[in-house]
Amino acid sequence: MTDKTVPAPTFKLRSRAWFDNPANIDMTSLYLERYLNFGISLEELRSGKPIIGIAQTGSDLSPCNRHHIVLAERIREGIREAGGIAMEFPVHPIQETGKRPTAGLDRNLAYLGLVEAIYGYPLDGVVLTTGCDKTTPALLMAAATVNIPAIALSVGPMLNGWHKGERTGSGTIVWKGRQMMAAGELDEEGFIKLVASSAPSTGYCNTMGTATTMNSLAEALGMMLPGSAAIPAPYRDRQEVAWRTGKRIVDMVHEDLKPSDILTLEAFRNAIAVNAAIGGSTNAPIHLAAIARHIGVDLPLKDWETYGHKIPLLVNLQPAGEYLGEDYYRAGGVPAVVAQLIGQGLIHEDAMTVNGRTIGENCRDVTIEDEKVIKTFDQPLVEEAGFLVLTGNLFDAAIMKTSVISSEFRQRYLSNPEDPEAFEGPAVVFDGPEDYHDRIDDPALGITDQTLMFMRGAGPIGYPGAAEVVNMRPPSYLITEGIHALPCIGDGRQSGTSGSPSILNASPEAAAMGGLALLKTGDRVRMDLKQGRVDVLISDEELAERRAALEAEGGYKYPASQTPWQEIQRAVVGQLDTGAILEGADKYQRIAQTMGLP
Ligand code: FES
Ligand code: MG
Repeated sequence: MTDKTVPAPTFKLRSRAWFDNPANIDMTSLYLERYLNFGISLEELRSGKPIIGIAQTGSDLSPCNRHHIVLAERIREGIREAGGIAMEFPVHPIQETGKRPTAGLDRNLAYLGLVEAIYGYPLDGVVLTTGCDKTTPALLMAAATVNIPAIALSVGPMLNGWHKGERTGSGTIVWKGRQMMAAGELDEEGFIKLVASSAPSTGYCNTMGTATTMNSLAEALGMMLPGSAAIPAPYRDRQEVAWRTGKRIVDMVHEDLKPSDILTLEAFRNAIAVNAAIGGSTNAPIHLAAIARHIGVDLPLKDWETYGHKIPLLVNLQPAGEYLGEDYYRAGGVPAVVAQLIGQGLIHEDAMTVNGRTIGENCRDVTIEDEKVIKTFDQPLVEEAGFLVLTGNLFDAAIMKTSVISSEFRQRYLSNPEDPEAFEGPAVVFDGPEDYHDRIDDPALGITDQTLMFMRGAGPIGYPGAAEVVNMRPPSYLITEGIHALPCIGDGRQSGTSGSPSILNASPEAAAMGGLALLKTGDRVRMDLKQGRVDVLISDEELAERRAALEAEGGYKYPASQTPWQEIQRAVVGQLDTGAILEGADKYQRIAQTMGLP
């Protein structure tokens, strides 16, 4: 972290086009007049000080990020201390668990709104207040598109949850609790109490869910001050780093250090490696693809396997491990993980970060403070913790976290002991989460411990925004027999807090007439992890006949849009394997540099 003083820039700040434009004094006077009305002085506005936006994601509707309302005070003080002027503004709320039909729908909406705010107002730099799952990618995507100096500040995780002397992690405890309820070990009140214990303070999910993942990756990408992603929300260090972040963004404006200087291909490859080592969420490939496309970096899905699959799991956090957010921070957080990877030559050390130093300079010498929580590279928690990228006749691309496949699972599905990476079983197909909830405990479905469960109609178009519903629990009668997980395959997403052995993000989705649309309950499906394939074992001719029949009926059916935005997004959204961005939006690149301002 740097406190150095940087000389004033030799170039004219973009905010001057609003407040100091002699060629258009009428407009300048209008802009000045209106920004004076909350007490900011003419002297300040005409001082030539950088104007820094604080993109505020905290609100009562987004409780995971709500603490940013407090942190923004410290960000402001930092901005002022370094000679800038702060202007805070709201971002469209995104609450992962509360937003219907999905929070995924709102990532691109918040992105759109933020692009307009940063681009269209007199801002020289911006602080991105990140946190809950989709807030981090939405803000980074917008900063990438506009490309003015930007720095992310994580709100930080909640404190550890506890119940009867054991750590209870947000999200993860829900998957466990619903199995206990299905097995009759817990009543409704006990279930709610157990879940509430996992949320003891302000902050985001304390597990290695999508929030911890995306904030860790924002730091690994270089967009957040080193060591800051993991600080728990209520800690005093969190307030302090808010102040440092405010100070630093002013220097970044003077240095003209922009997202395009930081979000390079090397930075994305670093993030892929870090994601494997932390046991990051399967949502990360979607969001990183989206950020990469908006900054103009080519990041094919296959890169996740090429640069990530062989990397071991080092961070012992739930759901893959035992610990929670406070432990992760005390053990060293992201820099300690990066240092382990640097030791193996797995990090591009020259990648630039927001503090003006490279990731190598920031992290090289950081040591692990608690080896129970962050493992050394030589003694990892799990080998090969990254994702496999799969293909086949049901989809072009999908990902799987192979490290969660248990030996019990391998035994159950093995079709041939000579070929331990190939599994076969009959399919049971659900059309969307409602269909699944209605029918899962119906014995007529005939689900056994050999079944492969499919979820379709849950992609970006089918269930607008793509639902986190692919990790399906088995029917209650199997759980009481001790079968806690069946393989799940689908065109939706899976919560990062779930440890299910699922094949996710299948693209194209059923609603876009991908192969999953043609699958029928009872079809036999083969998963061959060595070949990287998932195939339904029916002939190409029969598949073609099924396709023609479905097309004649008007295609795969999914529920109608309920809001204008659902309809707009469905018409232009891409598939999960390429980031599910608004297709066409990525032609607008680095727009602050092309707007023709001084
Ligand atoms: Fe917001 Fe988990 S629900 S961070
Ligand atoms: Mg989540």
